[in-house]
Amino acid sequence: MSSKSNLYGKGDSSYKAAGEISGITKLVNDFYDFMEEVPEAKKILNMHPDDLTESRKKLAYFLSGWLGGPKLFSENFGKINLPGAHKHLSIGLEERDAWILCMQKAVKMQPYEDSFKVYLIEQLRVPAERIRIVSGNENI
Ligand code: HEM
Repeated sequence: MSSKSNLYGKGDSSYKAAGEISGITKLVNDFYDFMEEVPEAKKILNMHPDDLTESRKKLAYFLSGWLGGPKLFSENFGKINLPGAHKHLSIGLEERDAWILCMQKAVKMQPYEDSFKVYLIEQLRVPAERIRIVSGNENI
């Protein structure tokens, strides 16, 4: 991993490394395309509305702010508490891992530096695990 990885997470460096909103939109579109393709993700795909347009938009807007860029989610949809937004769902280890799997496949497709790809997945595991704890059925 390059020493550049130490810089991700500071200011808007991660937002820039992700290609700003156009790069993030591409990442999220690839992510949801994988969710529609990958057999392991069938269960979490079925938790979504049939039309994924809004889901794609919401995740891209959320990631923009989360990566240190414009806070597009709150500007367009209001305040969000991520675990709270998933509380009505049943997300255990399998569902969390399926989400991360689709994200890993999508990240792989992007023209990002390898160090950013590793960093981004590591960082996304944190909210994914928080969501599992709040929405999961297991007491692990
Ligand atoms: C742990 C595995 C996860 C699963 C199975 C999952 C699943 C879902 C589903 C099914 C929805 C649509 C809910 C609905 O329309 O009722 C949703 C919404 C959303 N998810 Fe996730 N998600 C996961 C992790 C994450 C992570 C890690 C992030 C952000 C880094 C995220 C960000 C969002 C956002 C921003 C929304 C829109 C919330 C809203 O409508 O207000 N999700 N998720």
